Amino acid sequence: MRPSWAGAASRAAGGRRGRPLLSGNWKMHHTHLEAIQVVQKLAYRLSPGDLEQAEVSLHPPFTALRSVQTVLESDETPIALGAQNCHWEDEGAYTGEVSAAMLAKLNVRYVIVGHSERRQLFGDTDEQINRRLQAVLRHNMTPILCVGETLEEREAGRTSERVTDQLRADLAGVGQAAIGGLVVAYEPVWAIGTGQNATPEDAEETCALIRSVVKEMAGAGAGETLRIQYGGSVTSGNAGDLMAQADVDGLLVGGASLDPDVFALVVKAALGR
Ligand code: PGA
Repeated sequence: MRPSWAGAASRAAGGRRGRPLLSGNWKMHHTHLEAIQVVQKLAYRLSPGDLEQAEVSLHPPFTALRSVQTVLESDETPIALGAQNCHWEDEGAYTGEVSAAMLAKLNVRYVIVGHSERRQLFGDTDEQINRRLQAVLRHNMTPILCVGETLEEREAGRTSERVTDQLRADLAGVGQAAIGGLVVAYEPVWAIGTGQNATPEDAEETCALIRSVVKEMAGAGAGETLRIQYGGSVTSGNAGDLMAQADVDGLLVGGASLDPDVFALVVKAALGR
């Protein structure tokens, strides 16, 4: 089904949130050699028009960042480089960690912070997420802050409370202008990797809530320019309908971003093609 395009129409009419941001989060997949192949194939599958109308970002594991950067820059492919996490200090005795300063040197543009897998499997707290986010901003990159409720919280009717609490804690002390430039990804935990996506209406309801909480926190201007992605079992089958929602400005795609043929179809579907 073709999307009704409410969101896209307003964006095309000079909306302040620009092109849809379609991000591929590879999680712990692809060696640097595989990553090179995936990027090259994806660049071939997407037309110059696709890459003009959408902003595409790829978030490989740390070990593949330098290789992907080199391919994108040497081929002059207009795909943004992204990372999946970072530490809040610029350097120090933090074995196993990678800093925002190091990512910035690789021309990383977007850094995911607060992904639910980090929160659930690695114990990331809101305080740590807030520090990571501030480190990303300090190095002139754009955070993609993930928020979302668990199934238990949803069934208990606590979705808005949970998402509001996360936003308030994760954005504490961040200036209004910086908040206006952020990306927030609404990722209901029960929809991640389960094949069970939120309906476009459910996604819109929470994305609209996120915008209104941000307006309350940082003013109407910041709320209007804030970009909001939906993530959780996005496919080429649901991307168009999700993107048609007024408050959905992009998609954060996990499983369907690993195969370049599949991700290219998601990008095209998000563009209504
Ligand atoms: P999924 O993951 O698309 O595989 O559900 C999304 C995410 O975790 O960002």
